[in-house]
Amino acid sequence: MKANELREKFLSFFREKGHTVIPSASIIPENDPTVLFTTAGMHPLVPYLLGAKHPDGTRLTNVQKCIRTGDIEEVGDATHCTFFEMLGNWSLGDYFKKEAIAWSWEFLTSEKWLNIPKEKLYFSVFAGDEDAPRDMESYHQWISHGVNPDHIFFLPKEHNWWGPAGTTGPCGPDTEMFIDTGREKCSSECSPACSCGKYVEIWNDVFMEYNKTADGRYEPLSQKNVDTGMGLDRTIAVLQGVDSVYETDLYQDIMNRIGQLANKEYQQDEETVRAYRIVADHIRTAVFILGDQKGVTPSNVDQGYVLRRLIRRAVRFGLQIGIPEGSTPKIAQAVIDQYRGVYPELVKNEAFIKQELDLEEERFQRTIKQGLREFDKVIARLGKDVKVIDGPNAFRLYDTFGFPLEFTQELAQENGYTVDVEGFEKSFRHHQEISQAGAAQRFKGGLADHTEETTNLHTATHLLHAALRKVLGEEVAQRGSNITAERLRFDFSFSRKVSRDELNEVERLVNEVIAQDMEVLCEEMPLEEAQKSGAIGLFESKYGNMVKVYSVGDFSKELCGGPHAARTGELGRFKIKKEESSSAGVRRIKAVLVK
Ligand code: ALA
Repeated sequence: MKANELREKFLSFFREKGHTVIPSASIIPENDPTVLFTTAGMHPLVPYLLGAKHPDGTRLTNVQKCIRTGDIEEVGDATHCTFFEMLGNWSLGDYFKKEAIAWSWEFLTSEKWLNIPKEKLYFSVFAGDEDAPRDMESYHQWISHGVNPDHIFFLPKEHNWWGPAGTTGPCGPDTEMFIDTGREKCSSECSPACSCGKYVEIWNDVFMEYNKTADGRYEPLSQKNVDTGMGLDRTIAVLQGVDSVYETDLYQDIMNRIGQLANKEYQQDEETVRAYRIVADHIRTAVFILGDQKGVTPSNVDQGYVLRRLIRRAVRFGLQIGIPEGSTPKIAQAVIDQYRGVYPELVKNEAFIKQELDLEEERFQRTIKQGLREFDKVIARLGKDVKVIDGPNAFRLYDTFGFPLEFTQELAQENGYTVDVEGFEKSFRHHQEISQAGAAQRFKGGLADHTEETTNLHTATHLLHAALRKVLGEEVAQRGSNITAERLRFDFSFSRKVSRDELNEVERLVNEVIAQDMEVLCEEMPLEEAQKSGAIGLFESKYGNMVKVYSVGDFSKELCGGPHAARTGELGRFKIKKEESSSAGVRRIKAVLVK
């Protein structure tokens, strides 16, 4: 079975079970200061898991683009990828364990669907602890479908509990589905809890019925939800009977392209295998980050930093296998071709993706030479007896010479040194404006922030967007939005610098609407109707779904998931702090609300 077929089958199956197919949300979460990337299908759905009404109903399904960079050093083995697609189905207070498990079973084993031999399937369920009881219901559901009790394992929270994605929020026990690859057991204790590779997890049904509070309690949610996730890459590898995700049809053309550019054969030795895979994985992820055109370009903060790190790592490992300078756009082309029918945004933004890769590669090649000289000087200055590169020096290599911390660490290791990472983080915090999550949190997930401050800034973002279009014209369209409790940041298409007079006028218009204390109205309507009504916003949906439209009188009308302030009078005074270029043809405004 090909990856395209698995995607289609999954969505068709759940469509038949009354689910609405919703589009993948952007990989860059909008208006969520606590997280850099969308890490799971449930992430954009958090407000609905907590009880908000979803315009498409209570049964949803989709394929979500996800990024997890926490295990970036592991990339190169058989299963770790920084980008992956997650197939998911959700019940928002609708069905629960019985149906979720029955449908998982049917999809996995029925001849019409995946037709996996029943005896190859293994399951785990939650063993119970002081926070929640042993999940006997899931156990009995599996048994009712004829599963052999020997194939079901009760495991503790570290294995069979999912969420919250940050420190608080929806979570609950889960039941996981594994395929036995047929390999030898690694020991007599070998079970689905083991990571030796014999049992590969392909699907996870999470029963989200708790909310973890800030003081660590698990309180029942007002509704019982189901959140499931099946990793497309990993599942397709198992179904195709290959040893790693890189051997599946998803990667075939990308690996071939790398092979044409490199001077070493893929399977030559372990290090070469790893380098090929790192190049393929990192360029694929970079293409997807750039492909969403949300104002993220390589930089030294937040998502831009992750993007920079991915590109620079790909270049470095590319050098190891003889890939010549300037090759990243060529590898990107293979990625775009691979996903052209599934993610049209990659084709649409092809020129932008390749240009940004090219520029970053050039910047890296330039600084790498200077940086290596500087690195040698640092080591010489430290003298023979000191074997630790201190924080300020590591930070200077990063800040001035563009060396990602990990690059410095790897270089240090090669020369018999270590790096003071805490010291680096300290210098980093002093010098950079960083996301609220903090430097150490940069690669972790989190929840949508619905505090009063961010909600008000979100409404202010709509007013700013509308005012910009009134002052600068309809060329202005949103390219990205990022909100912390302190400020909003808005990226939009516009071809030149915005003058001070124009900014003053934008500010005046927004403050006028605030002074009028207008109602912020929310309506649900079909996508086509929203489009016809002149609402602006990101019309990315492919399936003719219901959407929410927020409007403020005749001033602003925009497609959005919310939440928003009830009235504009709650906002306080709006002030633009900065206007600057973000990337070619994209401007960036930072603004605040003053009470
Ligand atoms: N949210 C669950 C996961 O990511 C389904 O595994």
